[in-house]
Amino acid sequence: MSPHQNHDRNDIDPAPNRPMSVSEIKDSYAEYADRMHRFEWIDRVILGRYRRDRFGDVEGRVLDVACGTGTNFRYLPDAVDLVGIDVSPEMLANAEERLTELDIDGSLREMDAQELEFPDDSFDAVISALSTCTFPDPIAALREMDRVCKPEGTIRLVEHGRSDVRPIAKYQEWRADAHYAQTGCRWTQNPREIASKAGLRVRDTDTGLFGTITTFEITPNRREER
Ligand SMILES: C[S@@+](CC[C@H](N)C(=O)[O-])C[C@H]1O[C@@H](n2cnc3c(N)ncnc32)[C@H](O)[C@@H]1O
Repeated sequence: MSPHQNHDRNDIDPAPNRPMSVSEIKDSYAEYADRMHRFEWIDRVILGRYRRDRFGDVEGRVLDVACGTGTNFRYLPDAVDLVGIDVSPEMLANAEERLTELDIDGSLREMDAQELEFPDDSFDAVISALSTCTFPDPIAALREMDRVCKPEGTIRLVEHGRSDVRPIAKYQEWRADAHYAQTGCRWTQNPREIASKAGLRVRDTDTGLFGTITTFEITPNRREER
C-alpha cells in the first residue's frame, strides 16, 4: 500500500501522511520554475489585485520570503529596498530576470524560510505569497518572518487554502494527495489557523476568490513577547 492510500479521508491535510523535505520541495520547484515565470500573466489576472492590495504600500527594506519567480515584485512601490529569498535556485534565476525586466535594483539569496539568515529586526516589511502551503514547517517560517521584522514594521501575507464553497472544497479534498505529491502544496490548509498557531498578531485579514485566498496584515510581536 502506498503512503497515499494509508490515509483517513477525514484528515484533509496530506502532509502528515507523506511529509516532504525541503530538498524534495526544491526539486519539485526546479521543474516548475520556467513554466511559472512564463505563465505569470495568468496569476496577474487572477491574483494581481490581492497582491497589490496587501503589498502595494510597504516601505523601506522589504524581505520577500519564498519569492519564487518574483511574482510579487511588480506590486511593490519603486522606492523599496528589496531582498528576495527562496530555497529553489531555478525559481531565483527567473526572479533575477524579473528584476531586470522591471528595472528593480533588488538582491536575491538562496535560503530556507524556516531558518532565515538575517539578524532580528532587519526589515521594515516582510511579505510572502502562496508560501505557507509549501513550507514543511509553516509555523517555524512565520515565526522567522516575525523575528526578522522590526517591531514597528509590518508582515503581509497573501495565502491560499480550502475554499468556503462546498463543491470547490470537495474537489480540493479529492485532489489534495495528488496535488501535494506533485507540488508539495497543501491546498486544503487553513491559513488563519496557521497564523494563529504561530502566535501572530493579525491586524487585518480578508478573503476572496471563493474563500481560497486569505490575505493578512500582521503586527510583529515585540522581542520580549517572542
Ligand atoms: C507556490 S510558490 C510561490 C512563489 C511566489 N511567492 C509567488 O507568489 O508566486 C512557493 C515557493 O516557495 C518556495 N519554498 C518552499 N519551501 C521553501 C522554504 N523552506 N524556504 C524558502 N522557500 C521555499 C518554493 O521554492 C517556491 O518558490
